[in-house]
Amino acid sequence: MAVSHKALLLPGPQGQLGAHVPGPRRGAHLRTRPRRARAARGGDGPGRGDAGARAGRGDRERQRRGRDTAGAAEAGALSRIERLGPEHLEPGARLLAEVFNRAPWNERWTPETARAELEHVLNTPGSFGLVIYAGGSLAGLAAGHRHPLDRGEAYYLREMYVRPELQGRGLGSELMRELKRALKDRGVSILYLITHRGIPAESFYRMHGCKVSRRDVLMYVEL
Ligand SMILES: CC(C)(COP(=O)(O)OP(=O)(O)OC[C@H]1O[C@@H](n2cnc3c(N)ncnc32)[C@H](O)[C@@H]1OP(=O)(O)O)[C@@H](O)C(=O)NCCC(=O)NCCS
Repeated sequence: MAVSHKALLLPGPQGQLGAHVPGPRRGAHLRTRPRRARAARGGDGPGRGDAGARAGRGDRERQRRGRDTAGAAEAGALSRIERLGPEHLEPGARLLAEVFNRAPWNERWTPETARAELEHVLNTPGSFGLVIYAGGSLAGLAAGHRHPLDRGEAYYLREMYVRPELQGRGLGSELMRELKRALKDRGVSILYLITHRGIPAESFYRMHGCKVSRRDVLMYVEL
């Protein structure tokens, strides 16, 4: 297992989490995002610092925004969110493997292990998850579990992913907004998660109000 740099997203103004933060149990949590996606989205590239390249990136960015706006409207118009249940295990597991078996994660999910992971999330006390459908098929999933704190409850977001070809169209944001609303309604005061530093997923979570904890450190030992 590679050494991870998982950013802990803690704590909110009202709470301290520290000892409750689980460590990495397996590679599945050590996720990054494909470089090609960043390049395709007009991000870092070999032309950094060059005025011509900057202008080119600007054009590409505007084109991308145009496409994304259309894509987002299309994806949003066709999407619906449901509470995660046993009926989502098969399609959810297929999607988990599809998303995280790709480079550069190169994880080795099989239909069985992916299903076991989702089944475990679903059967963990305090389990709560949502799925989003777009165009009639499962397009994304966000799932984890609630657990008690000294005051109130926290929620560990253990799995979150969107179908690769639908990423960047607002579906993840829809899921995240609905998840936060649903958890707040249930009395949860803090959501936390683990991801790599400096990848777009981190900016996605920041976009949704997540902060990197200055106090807590993620520690683990390989056995
Ligand atoms: C992270 C993820 C769930 C976000 O869902 P999404 O539907 O792609 O996100 P949205 O369209 O709502 O929001 C887009 C923002 O998310 C971020 N982002 C993260 N991954 C992205 C991707 N692959 N494509 C586009 N945007 C991505 C960007 O900050 C983007 O904002 P910008 O367009 O202003 O640059 C989704 O991209 C995904 O499944 N990624 C792969 C799996 C993963 O990394 N999961 C997190 C594991 S901890």
